[in-house]
Amino acid sequence: TEPAVTAVIDLDLPGPRISRHVYGHFAEHLGRCIYGGFWVGEDSSVPNDGGIRLDVVEALRALRIPNLRWPGGCFADDYHWRDGIGPREGRPRMVNSHWGDVVEDNAFGTHEFMHLCELLGAAPYVSGNVGSGTVREMSEWVEYLTRDDDSPMAGLRRENGRDAAWSVPFWGIGNEAWGCGGNMTASHFASLARQFGTYVRDHGGNTVERIAAGANSDDYAWTETLMRSVATLGSGPAPGSPYQSVSLHHYTINGSWEDKGDATRFGLDDYYVTLRRAHRIREIVRGHAAVMDAYDPARVMGLVVDEWGTWWNVEPGTNPGFLFQQNSLRDALVAAVHFDVFHDHAERVRMANIAQTVNVLQAVVLIDPERGSLVRTPTYHVFAMNTGHHDASALAVRLRGGVPTREVEGSPVPLFSASASTRGDTALVSLSNLDAGAPLTVALDLRGRAVADVAATVLTAPTIQSHNTGDDPDAVAPAPLDSVRRTPQSVEVVLPPHSYTTLALALA
Ligand code: AHR
Repeated sequence: TEPAVTAVIDLDLPGPRISRHVYGHFAEHLGRCIYGGFWVGEDSSVPNDGGIRLDVVEALRALRIPNLRWPGGCFADDYHWRDGIGPREGRPRMVNSHWGDVVEDNAFGTHEFMHLCELLGAAPYVSGNVGSGTVREMSEWVEYLTRDDDSPMAGLRRENGRDAAWSVPFWGIGNEAWGCGGNMTASHFASLARQFGTYVRDHGGNTVERIAAGANSDDYAWTETLMRSVATLGSGPAPGSPYQSVSLHHYTINGSWEDKGDATRFGLDDYYVTLRRAHRIREIVRGHAAVMDAYDPARVMGLVVDEWGTWWNVEPGTNPGFLFQQNSLRDALVAAVHFDVFHDHAERVRMANIAQTVNVLQAVVLIDPERGSLVRTPTYHVFAMNTGHHDASALAVRLRGGVPTREVEGSPVPLFSASASTRGDTALVSLSNLDAGAPLTVALDLRGRAVADVAATVLTAPTIQSHNTGDDPDAVAPAPLDSVRRTPQSVEVVLPPHSYTTLALALA
């Protein structure tokens, strides 16, 4: 077959570095993400290290997860960190009013989170409370975590059993301040972000990147207000500004917020509507990046997509406040599309965090409710297949003659998505065939360097609804792909319907 798509890649023109932090994660005190996900407690029969499930740690270490955002989400603006330190039996309880209205006993607090990050080898991203917290409370939390001398908070940390200061490179100033984080106006929050950010101090050798709670999807005015607020500081956007990044939240849903569609019981039309909505991340990132460019043309500040992913109706019979959903091949393709966009905007998108790591929304890992066993979702495998993009240099992928599309909701939806990166004598090319029914032949016109070898891996399954369960944990799993032909300057590959493929190139 004649290639339907020709992608031109200049292998000798590396672009900006794709931060490994776009492969970041998010864990909130929500449903079974922390309790029953990461945390089983020290007395559990489930193998654990200090209460943290070891199978979860092992699965995530294989993804080389670069950072973990915690404790929320909406929960962050209700959370008072002093409730989560000291002997567990003495910790106060609270109501988690956002998520299921359940009582939280604070068994998992600051020390447990930092221990989890150490086990994972992930950088902590702590989300501080602006909505119901004080400047002092936030300032003291940073001191507690990161100060090494005999300051009051460092002393308190030592009383609780931790001598050395931790390193905390990322700090969130509030969360969804336009909604659950306080229902604020943009200008009110922009002032608070400047104020709170001022007191999130760099102690000793610890340098914090402060991330101001950002916009909901395409609310470009929110980003503009935050950017203008920094620009009018005199020093302008600078490493020493009260915040160095602004965040963005964007979820992919299939219906309305009242009826978001089912995770596995969906039809072909639903599939294409989902893809159309997933592709919106490109326009949204572009829009926010354009606003940021106007105030920060040197691109000092980062855009941090610290919540993204699919959001479906909860699994039947589960607590609606726990946001537990299955994860199909469709979710994996949504993830692949997002990563292509993050790679393409590597200069501005410095971090992204899928919502959420375990048992909540587009999780990479599920704990099977009946068996208690760990299930890697199709989305997990996209993260695994993409580790070669971490900190590699982005390569532009130019499509000759356009891509096949399908008309959905009155507009053409691309049925193909791609991105690429290079590191030393290797390159990694990501290719998604989003057509549910037809294979796609893709030719790569490779320039600048010769290709010595290629290894292709594909993630697909019999149907777009295929998913992994405790009974069938590998229904959707990566496998080698044979349909590849190579010359020194080209690779031709036949992508199966509804599939995600990576080509690992060895360069001569
Ligand atoms: O990820 C679930 C919730 O979605 C988060 O708590 C909140 O920030 C967002 O609305």
